[in-house]
Amino acid sequence: MAEEQVRDTDIFANLKEEDINSKKVARFTLFVCLIAAVAGLMFGFDTGVISGALAFIQNDFQVPNDSLTLGFIVGSTPAGACIGALCGGMISSRLGRRRSLKVSALFFIVGALVCTLASGVAVMILGKLILGLAIGIASFVTPLYLSEVAPENIRGSMISLYQLMITIGIAVSYVSDLGFAQIESWRGMFGVTVVPAILLLIGVHFVPGSPKWLIAKGKDHEAIEVLKKVRTSVDKIRTEVSNIKDTLKVKHDGFGLFRANANFRKVVFLGIVLQLVQQLTGINIVMYFCPKIMEMAGFGSHNAQMWATIVIGITNVLSTFIAIALVDRWGRRPILITGFAIMAAAMLTIAACISLHTDNGGALAYVTVGAVMIFIVGFAASAGPLIWVLCSEIQPLKGRDFGITCSTASNWISNAIITTVFPIVLGAIGNTATFVMLGVFNFAFIFFTMMYVPETKGISLEGIEKNLMEGKKLRNLGDAS
Ligand code: BGC
Repeated sequence: MAEEQVRDTDIFANLKEEDINSKKVARFTLFVCLIAAVAGLMFGFDTGVISGALAFIQNDFQVPNDSLTLGFIVGSTPAGACIGALCGGMISSRLGRRRSLKVSALFFIVGALVCTLASGVAVMILGKLILGLAIGIASFVTPLYLSEVAPENIRGSMISLYQLMITIGIAVSYVSDLGFAQIESWRGMFGVTVVPAILLLIGVHFVPGSPKWLIAKGKDHEAIEVLKKVRTSVDKIRTEVSNIKDTLKVKHDGFGLFRANANFRKVVFLGIVLQLVQQLTGINIVMYFCPKIMEMAGFGSHNAQMWATIVIGITNVLSTFIAIALVDRWGRRPILITGFAIMAAAMLTIAACISLHTDNGGALAYVTVGAVMIFIVGFAASAGPLIWVLCSEIQPLKGRDFGITCSTASNWISNAIITTVFPIVLGAIGNTATFVMLGVFNFAFIFFTMMYVPETKGISLEGIEKNLMEGKKLRNLGDAS
């Protein structure tokens, strides 16, 4: 203890109020925000790009509509993302957050180049797998880095900004796809993603390391140098360093806790199921196959399909604001229940439109666009961001890394499986039945939410942990004790 105090006094010895220039701090923090935002943008860009490219790739490589190959082309990115997210924890604790972001940027560049130059389906799948790895690492490291570098008062908005950038990236990819569709170049669609990836790589070179990671590695002096650039007073820096040291004292042994504690196991399973539920809403079927859905609904021309897809992308961005505004006012449960009800109704409407459609578009095609938009509003304002929020809130401190790794992996595994088998399911049971099934899933999730999802609005993370360890039911984890 005495030794620790001597060390602490020592590390703060050179810290003076006049070294901190709050104007510079604000500018630098904005710069760090922007770079992290580019990581989110890349994530979205590479998620969305396939939707417009798919038809051209199918044409060039002769891939039939209801084939497993088609599923692999789409599903390889989420599969790679799953591996990336699983390794994200290890990479970011070994290399540090900043270097992991560089690795991710490198994968974004290599993956995009492989896809752009792909000579056949196998190379294409390899390139998309590498892009997936990049997305997986970025999806684990970026929010972590942001939460460790951002000042406390803007931490929440920084993480929301990141979510928002993902949806903006998806929308941008739809617009860029439309541009390259005019010259029928799917290679251009992938090639253009190299530009922001290079900007990310250069940008990350200039952002500072994470103070928490530096302290965990015993590099206290370096951490203080970083904090001087992103915090506005000496007091804040001292408090933060001591808080970081306190959290580091808690031994993280998630797997040990998982084996020993049935309450923790319950909550790990809840995280896994919540992410599975998010994917079973059908969100990525809409994200990746949007132009195809428009085709089923009767939009004949590829251009019209892509315009409709852009409208969907913009709706996704705008609706994310609804969640940001409502999450701490309405609470998690009512928002989720409303969202699932909207998504169920929208999926059933899409099914009806597809079953009634005629080849020449007409009013029904517009009703389909409307229904897909309503589905997206339902998702982006509820399960989209909220499942991520819940998955981080319900895990106890000691097992948080383990719990979040499991739920994030579940997100990507279910995403990969669902998008890979989607073309097969369409072939086997037909378009209408597939969307009816998705509608029924969303309807069932209303009851799942009522029975198992806790209301975590306004309760501290410590309060949730106390309820969990007292053996309360999952639904009651957010009750005031
Ligand atoms: C989901 C992703 C999805 C994205 C769409 C996220 O919350 O986890 O699978 O592609 O929302 O905006």
